[in-house]
Amino acid sequence: MVAFADLSLSFLFGLSSFTVPVTSSGFLDAGNVLRSTVCEQIATEVSSSSIVYYAGSSQYTKDNYHWSASSSHDSECSFEPATAEDVGIALRILGQTQTQFGIKSGGHAANAGFSSTPGVQIAMYSFSDVVYDSATQTATVGTGLLWDDVYAALEQYSVTVVGAKVTGIGVGGIALGGGYSYLTNQHGLGFDNVVAYELVLPNGTVTDITSSTDPDLFFALRGGFNNFGIVTRVTLKTYPQAQVWGGRISYSLDQWEGASSAIANFWANATDPKASIYNTYNYISGVAEISTILFYDAPTCPEGMFDEFLSVPHIEKDISTRSYVSLVQSLPLNVTSGLRSVFHWVAMEEITVPVLNMVANETLSWGAELTGSSARIISYDVDPYLPTLYDHVDSPTAYPPTRDRGYSFIQVYYGWADSNYDETMFDAVDASAQHMIQALTDDGQDIANVAVYPNNAPPDTTLERMYGDNLPRLRAIKKAVDPDNVMGLTGGWKF
Ligand SMILES: Cc1cc2nc3c(=O)[nH]c(=O)nc-3n(C[C@H](O)[C@H](O)[C@H](O)COP(=O)(O)OP(=O)(O)OC[C@H]3O[C@@H](n4cnc5c(N)ncnc54)[C@H](O)[C@@H]3O)c2cc1C
Ligand SMILES: *[C@@H]1O[C@H](CO)[C@@H](O)[C@H](O)[C@H]1NC(C)=O
Ligand SMILES: *[C@@H]1O[C@H](CO)[C@@H](O)[C@H](O)[C@H]1NC(C)=O
Ligand SMILES: *[C@@H]1O[C@H](CO)[C@@H](O)[C@H](O)[C@H]1NC(C)=O
Ligand SMILES: *[C@@H]1O[C@H](CO)[C@@H](O)[C@H](O)[C@H]1NC(C)=O
Repeated sequence: MVAFADLSLSFLFGLSSFTVPVTSSGFLDAGNVLRSTVCEQIATEVSSSSIVYYAGSSQYTKDNYHWSASSSHDSECSFEPATAEDVGIALRILGQTQTQFGIKSGGHAANAGFSSTPGVQIAMYSFSDVVYDSATQTATVGTGLLWDDVYAALEQYSVTVVGAKVTGIGVGGIALGGGYSYLTNQHGLGFDNVVAYELVLPNGTVTDITSSTDPDLFFALRGGFNNFGIVTRVTLKTYPQAQVWGGRISYSLDQWEGASSAIANFWANATDPKASIYNTYNYISGVAEISTILFYDAPTCPEGMFDEFLSVPHIEKDISTRSYVSLVQSLPLNVTSGLRSVFHWVAMEEITVPVLNMVANETLSWGAELTGSSARIISYDVDPYLPTLYDHVDSPTAYPPTRDRGYSFIQVYYGWADSNYDETMFDAVDASAQHMIQALTDDGQDIANVAVYPNNAPPDTTLERMYGDNLPRLRAIKKAVDPDNVMGLTGGWKF
């Protein structure tokens, strides 16, 4: 056991060496002799700006990279389309030859096969434009970008958009999957702020989807991921963005009581949508610590608002007035990449000291149990939101199925290195989520049936559990737009 006094997030950096080799898999499926030539066919038919890469090239390696080892796979070839028309040509070839493919934006999906494939790996990197339109106060951004890049590119105009909270996440998985951000209390989810998608339909046709051109697809894309085609660009509302106040502060185990009290008091008093906190209860290679991100959307925070956090003895503190992108990068969760991983998600109505003690107990007891075998990281992240968080949208979205009220949530993340422990970890994370749902229910919270966030749901989650009553409509839209089920050749949640 490491002495708690020695703790800092620097021990996380040691983990970056945990790059687990990806096993290569050939094309074993019967009846797919065509496949090895599919890559060549795509290369031949697309324009010269779009390129197919093979194993051995650095672009192939980059295209196949995924944050999580459990969602990484060597592909037959990778394809970097540079125009929406070329995406359409590739989709038609893949459909005609019934070839599996993966669509990757930032590659942060943890579930196996969601954005990776043994077939053709489509990587969106060439869609990297950020075009700001001050007249409409929107920005059109390519789905090959990370949110970090988008925030940084918009800084010169003193505006930003609602994307991810943490460094390294792609535009695609948020614009099509949700997007809980430090700005969500003010402006809603990431995709609540999308005004248009440039979408390549499964039959290869390029279209612009807005609430007026196609209300069905505009509803379905906001939560429906890759079921309806491939999105090349999204247009998002922008908001004025000055410097922000905040950053990371971390506490060793002997200060968890004080940290949990600060979190509960912040919650009890939370009314200001410009304030946000993100609290990670971590057990990393035998060491327990809490890292909290404090955020206020102005160069200074209101007097007293975060005093309790700052007065609890901490092992490190990186808090200042800084750019928005610098704040997003202040939690180095990316250094945990390369592990196998699973996420889970449990809603909360209230965040009290007993609830936080329950979360601390889950962190410590599963941490102690699982790091004995192969877990490297057990993380329970308490993410508070105002109940009004879902009020910032003009038309319905695929997720969440109801917007009657908003919920805070616990995001659970387990990371491990050895695939022999996959089942152990999946079972443990499920048991822990069930235990927390029970504990919260016993506490009087009505959360057992709240729709689970698809971006944090483990692979065995049913579609009903995430999309609820929206599912029949989503299935009907999918059937109409993709009668040949071309998008069934790629992984992810499938309607
Ligand atoms: C370290 C870490 C931090 C996170 N932080 C946050 C956070 O702050 N807020 C939050 O809301 N979530 C967060 N998440 C969850 C995150 O939202 C999901 O992992 C998300 O799907 C990642 O998007 P991506 O583009 O990087 O992933 P990918 O793996 O590239 O894509 C995810 C899914 O979207 C599909 N897709 C991607 N691009 C396209 C496209 N252009 N067209 C059609 N389909 C596409 C893929 O096929 C895949 O099924 C985090 C996850 C991790 C691992
Ligand atoms: C917040 O709420 C708690 C409990 O309701 C209260 O004791 C405290 O004084 C409030 N103010 C701050 C700044 O925490
Ligand atoms: C993590 O992200 C930060 C900020 O974006 C970056 O500087 C750093 O190189 C990244 N580290 C890894 C291991 O990816
Ligand atoms: C702590 O968590 C474990 C694992 O879920 C559970 O078995 C145990 O009952 C919990 N203890 C308390 C005091 O809640
Ligand atoms: C492609 O699909 C769309 C939506 O279903 C349809 O409107 C369009 O006519 C189709 N195009 C072709 C060339 O089949």
